[in-house]
Order: sequence, then structure tokens, then C-alpha cells
Amino acid sequence: MRTRSLWEHTLTFFPQFLATLRERITPDATVTVVGASDGKFVLPLAAAGYHVIAVERDAVALHGGSVRLPGDSQAHAQGLIDRLRLEGLHNRVQVVEDDFLTCEPSRLECEAIWTSCSWHYSANHHRPLAEFVDRMQRLVRPGGVFGAEFMLPVEGRHLTIEHYTSPERLRQYFLGDWEVLLTLRTNEFSERPHVGQLHHHTHRMGLLMATRMSPFAEHIQEENA
Ligand SMILES: C[S@@+](CC[C@H](N)C(=O)[O-])C[C@H]1O[C@@H](n2cnc3c(N)ncnc32)[C@H](O)[C@@H]1O
Repeated sequence: MRTRSLWEHTLTFFPQFLATLRERITPDATVTVVGASDGKFVLPLAAAGYHVIAVERDAVALHGGSVRLPGDSQAHAQGLIDRLRLEGLHNRVQVVEDDFLTCEPSRLECEAIWTSCSWHYSANHHRPLAEFVDRMQRLVRPGGVFGAEFMLPVEGRHLTIEHYTSPERLRQYFLGDWEVLLTLRTNEFSERPHVGQLHHHTHRMGLLMATRMSPFAEHIQEENA
């Protein structure tokens, strides 16, 4: 890529998600990215051939603008829309500038959905985590894939906010027609400063990937039972 995301260096389980997409959905399927930011994941998905729906509420992340960087410097950042145009990928991506919790869901339906460290943002704390997860799940067509990486609590204040969660607590939302494919969690790790976190800081991260079983798959399971 000729352009770079401001989040390029943050830890991610995205390669596991991409490998799962290659196994389970068709190469031209639609993938929705919730909290798309400046496109760290949107661009590789589009470059891989997927049609991408990118949902983001932050205007600077989408259109570019002035951002504070580590070292107390201010810089102009490219937004997702400029990056897509510069990389020649804009025809494969539909950008939805909206709050995921309130936007019209029918235009976000997909074969796979991905979010990276978005639901712990304070703007989402007024609604239960279950609602965020449920909205994501409903968009995934049968046979499709759900992937989320998320923050686990590290500070005392996080323990009072359910949006800092764990793979174990998330599992309760994946009963019925959902099958959990993979959960992962890190120990505490320190990360160097980046946009949004201007000093060295500590995280713990988790991953949950699941598939929405298709009625056909359930039928086969019943027959084999
Ligand atoms: C930590 S950043 C993303 C960093 C990540 N590494 C990446 O590039 O995808 C999370 C993004 O989610 C967005 N976000 C959080 N809650 C949202 C919501 N309810 N609707 C839309 N975007 C949301 C934030 O504005 C932010 O840009």
C-alpha cells in the first residue's frame, strides 16, 4: 500500500480473521467493518477482493484532518476516503458515516463482520454491550462469520464497565444458531504511544470468532446426532 493507517502498529488478530474468511466465505462476498477508522482493515479486505461496508462515526477518520500524535505534535492525517481513492479501491467499499448503534441495519448485511477495539469507546457505554453484539450478529447471513477483537480490563475503572469484556463473558451471546470457532486472549502487554493513546500504555486483548450456522448445516448435524 502507498498509504498507511495511523493504527498500523497496534496489535491485531486480523490475520486469523482473514484466514477464516478464506475458508468459509466466497472471494467476492461482502464484509462489514464496524468502527472502520482510517481503513487499517478495510483496505486489505478490499485489496483481497471482498466488497466492504465500512461503518465509522468519526469524521476525521473518514475525511482526514488534524490529529494529535505522540510527542505532543499535531499532523494532518489522511482519512479512509482519501486512502481508498489513492489506492484505487474506492469502487469496492461503501462508506457509512454513522453511529453503528443507531444506523439503519438493512444496508449493512453481509457474509462476515469484523470489529477491532471499538465497542469499549465511551460513546457506546450508554447502551449494553449485548446490544452492540446483537446488532452485529443480526447482520451476518447464515453460514457467515463474526469476528471481534476487544479490550479486556486492565485498570480498576475498567472493571465497572462491561464493554471491557473477556472471551468467556462473550460466549453467552453465541448460543443457538452460533458456533464459536476460536477465542484467544493475551496477557498484559505494553504498547508504544499511538493516536488516541499518546503515552506508553498497557492492554489485554481478546478475540472471538464465530459462525452463524446455516439451516442446511443444522439439518446435517441433526441427522448425524
Ligand atoms: C480503536 S479505533 C480502530 C482501531 C483499529 N485498529 C482499526 O484501525 O480498525 C475504533 C474505531 O471505532 C469507532 N467506533 C466506536 N464506536 C462506534 C460506533 N458506535 N459507530 C461507529 N464507529 C464507532 C471509533 O470512532 C474508532 O474510529
